[in-house]
Amino acid sequence: MVSNYISNKVKIGKNVKIWHFAYVGDDVEIGNNVKIGSLSHIDYNVKIGDDTIIQGLVYIPPLSRIGKNVFIGPGSTLTNDPYPPSGKLIGVTIEDNAIIGSKSVIKAGVTIGKNSVVAMGAVVTKDVPNDTVVAGVPAKPKYSRSEYDKKQSEWNRALKIQFLTLVKVKTQMKIKNKARMTLAPELISGSIST
Ligand SMILES: CC(C)(COP(=O)(O)OP(=O)(O)OC[C@H]1O[C@@H](n2cnc3c(N)ncnc32)[C@H](O)[C@@H]1OP(=O)(O)O)[C@@H](O)C(=O)NCCC(=O)NCCS
Repeated sequence: MVSNYISNKVKIGKNVKIWHFAYVGDDVEIGNNVKIGSLSHIDYNVKIGDDTIIQGLVYIPPLSRIGKNVFIGPGSTLTNDPYPPSGKLIGVTIEDNAIIGSKSVIKAGVTIGKNSVVAMGAVVTKDVPNDTVVAGVPAKPKYSRSEYDKKQSEWNRALKIQFLTLVKVKTQMKIKNKARMTLAPELISGSIST
C-alpha cells in the first residue's frame, strides 16, 4: 500500500519524519529534523529549513520558502496565485522561528518575518514584520513576540504546577492508604464488628 508520495528529486536532511499520506513534490529541499504531518501537501520547488514542524493537512504551494525552526499548525494554507488561474505564481516566505496558527491562510507573495506569530484562523494579506503577533481577517498586529513568549512560559509554568500538585495528592493518598493498612488491617478487612 502507498502510504505517502515523496518525489525522487527531493533532498532530505537527517532525522526527517514524513507521516502517512503526505505528498512531497519535485525539487523540494528539506533540512534536518523536519517533521511533516499526515495529509500535508508540499508542492514542487519548496525549501524547508532545519527543525521545522509542519503539522497535518497543511498546503505549501510551489516556490515557497520556509525557514528554520518554524511551526506550521494543522490545516494552514499558503497560497501562490492571487488571481487564479493566472499562470504567474509567487510563493510565501516564512522566516526563521515563526509560528503559524492552525487554519490560517497566507496570501501569495507575503513574507512572515522572523519570530512572528500568526494566530489561528487568520487571513494574512500583507507582510508581517519581525517579532509581531498578528490575528484576524485581515490579520492585524496584536502584540509582540516577547509578550507571546511570556504568555507561553506562564502557561507551561501553570501546567507544571498542576502536574506537581497531582503527584503530591497521589503520594499523600498512597501514604494515607498504607498507614490505614498498617495500623488497622482488621478495620479494612472488616473483621472487627462495632
Ligand atoms: C494568537 C494567540 C496566541 C492569542 O492568544 P492569547 O494571547 O491568549 O489571546 P487572548 O485570548 O488574550 O486575546 C487577545 C486579543 O486577541 C484576540 N484574538 C485571540 N486569538 C485570536 C484569533 N485567533 N483570531 C482573532 N482574534 C484573536 C482576542 O479576541 C483578544 O482581542 P481583544 O483584545 O480585542 O479582546 C492564539 O489565539 C492562537 O492563535 N494560538 C495558536 C493556536 C494554534 O493554532 N495552535 C496550533 C497547534 S494545535
